[in-house]
Amino acid sequence: MLKNLLATKPIAPSGHVDAGEPVEGSLEGEATLKRTLTARQLVMLGIGAVIGAGIFVLTGHAAAAHAGPALVLSFVLAGFACALAGLCYAEFAAMMPVSGSAYSYSYATLGEFIAWFIGWNLVLEYLFAASTVAVGWSGYLNSFLGNLGMALPAALSSAPLTISGSEIVMSGAIVNLPAVFIVAAISGLCYVGITQSAFVNSIIVAIKVTVILLFVAFSIQFINPDNWVPFIPENTGPGQFGYSGIVRGAAVVFFAYIGFDAVSTAAGEAKNPQRDMPIGILGSLFLCTIIYIVVAAVLTGMMHYTQLGTAKPVATALEAYPSLAWLKWLVELGAIAGLSSVILVMLMGQPRIFYSMSKDGLLPAVFGKVHPKFRTPYISTIIVGTVAAILAGLFPIGLLGELVSMGTLLAFTTVCIGVLILRYTRPDLPRPFRVRAVWAVSILGAAACLYLFIQPFSEHWRLMVGWTAIGMVIYFAYGYRHSKLRKR
Ligand code: ALA
Repeated sequence: MLKNLLATKPIAPSGHVDAGEPVEGSLEGEATLKRTLTARQLVMLGIGAVIGAGIFVLTGHAAAAHAGPALVLSFVLAGFACALAGLCYAEFAAMMPVSGSAYSYSYATLGEFIAWFIGWNLVLEYLFAASTVAVGWSGYLNSFLGNLGMALPAALSSAPLTISGSEIVMSGAIVNLPAVFIVAAISGLCYVGITQSAFVNSIIVAIKVTVILLFVAFSIQFINPDNWVPFIPENTGPGQFGYSGIVRGAAVVFFAYIGFDAVSTAAGEAKNPQRDMPIGILGSLFLCTIIYIVVAAVLTGMMHYTQLGTAKPVATALEAYPSLAWLKWLVELGAIAGLSSVILVMLMGQPRIFYSMSKDGLLPAVFGKVHPKFRTPYISTIIVGTVAAILAGLFPIGLLGELVSMGTLLAFTTVCIGVLILRYTRPDLPRPFRVRAVWAVSILGAAACLYLFIQPFSEHWRLMVGWTAIGMVIYFAYGYRHSKLRKR
């Protein structure tokens, strides 16, 4: 049995692919998508998936509850862990231009059991992220409607379930209606075949980056350096300020970086994945890191960190300066547009990963069913959209965000380890992009990701263990018996 669990999916070296060619992917049974995406579009896709609730929503909580002005250091720390993981993703994505991302990489290196485990965790990354960002979207939409005197009542725009200590309790609200609406609407688009249009994505990215640059340019004059003192507030408990607060803050804002790896799921549609995947993954990560560090510095400089713990910290900071009221409107519109693109990329990525898992026999064939007219994995899309809408309607952003980060960090860890393993098990494979000092990058990357993982895990381990247990039951009840690799 152990041999079965550790069986790896064979990889054939991937020849050079040219624009327009269907993918003769390096993994058997991979998609035959059209190659149209350029390096620039991939970078835009990465930024489209990355910049969202992390910066527009969670930064405030990370500053107010964990790091204070040292939020900047939390961003540096999380960015460092992501850079190491990003290098490993770049090597894999250039070498194996397939759409299953970390799931496919794990199947090729660490065996079926780990691959399932990672695929299951990617549900946290993609499906749960879509719900999380939808909750953030709802907050910004309601704030925007509030400007027009049309805000929805709290009972219809916030989560009925909330966290008190380690318990989930009722909040008195009924449902987060806007969050359900946006998930349903975007799922509808995914169903009828709206592929992640690089053009539309580029427009949204241009809007959100412009809004952020305007925020920085016009807010910088209101920075009061006193707000940065003390830069690292005194520790008041585990994960509350001090150095442990910086690390805990890094685990929270790690969410802001999630999405650069989603570029790897577009490997099947890149014109020249061998060259452009590393550019897309690392380029978007680099640009977003710079943006985040600057925004964190400006935000904590213009308002004392204790006042930033709201669901829309950027807008909250601007509210304090009446002369910037116009910018607050723009930020809210930018956030509403920007968060939609994150939801879209996540809701498109999840069915695609299920599709890969279904083709491998680890999920029922229905997940791999493609709509005869729209050419989309429509049943997966409906299932993912329904579950994501329910989660978005019921749960608060904090809890969902932590689960997303935990799942993603585990995926990053295995990708870091997988790169090193493959160097030894398949040294012959052509590697268009090679991580230098692979031992250091791989081990340091895996250690950094695990370290960040432990932060939320120590608090929410029951949820994570429960999630894993459900995954194990499904694997042994279905995947283990139907695995195509074993049948072969
Ligand atoms: N990084 C994405 C966001 O912050 C998931 O919304």
